[in-house]
Amino acid sequence: MRKTVAIYPGSFDPVTNGHLDIIQRGAKLFDEVIVAVLVNSEKAPLFTAEERVNMIRAILAEQRLAVRVDTFDGLLVTYAQKQNAQVIVRGIRAVSDYEYELQMALMNRRLAPGIETVFMMPSEAYSFLSSRLVREVFTLGGSVEGLVPRLVEEMLRCKIEGRGGAGE
Ligand code: PNS
Repeated sequence: MRKTVAIYPGSFDPVTNGHLDIIQRGAKLFDEVIVAVLVNSEKAPLFTAEERVNMIRAILAEQRLAVRVDTFDGLLVTYAQKQNAQVIVRGIRAVSDYEYELQMALMNRRLAPGIETVFMMPSEAYSFLSSRLVREVFTLGGSVEGLVPRLVEEMLRCKIEGRGGAGE
């Protein structure tokens, strides 16, 4: 039987416990999940693509999941086709996410009718959580404990206190 490969794309700047929750749920449903980190975005990211990938890899290394971490640029569906993926996974936290996600899912379906988008809900404990808020709260001196893995907290500290740091 053909294995089902799902792409979980995003900026992951940085990865949060909400993202990890979706990765774990996705790994139960699909034979392989590819976490695909967007490289070229219009937004200037806090972490380089390499740092984002290294953090996710290091965090997932402790878990025995059928998950691969990669980068992509250009059209998501082109990348998904190259990986022979049948599914795009996106996390939906609240109704407010739905409109944008629906737009993207329908555009992706128009571009690649063979690829299905599957929306998954993270634990309600993370329903308010976003990378943007993590960056903002941390930068302004607030605690993000329990919202991101320890490694991410350390990397935020290095980055924001200007000490550098390159992933694992
Ligand atoms: O975590 P994000 O920033 O919400 O992820 C958005 C992402 C990376 C999924 C989206 O911007 C994307 O797919 N970008 C790649 C370019 C593309 O395919 N654009 C058309 C989408 S309809």
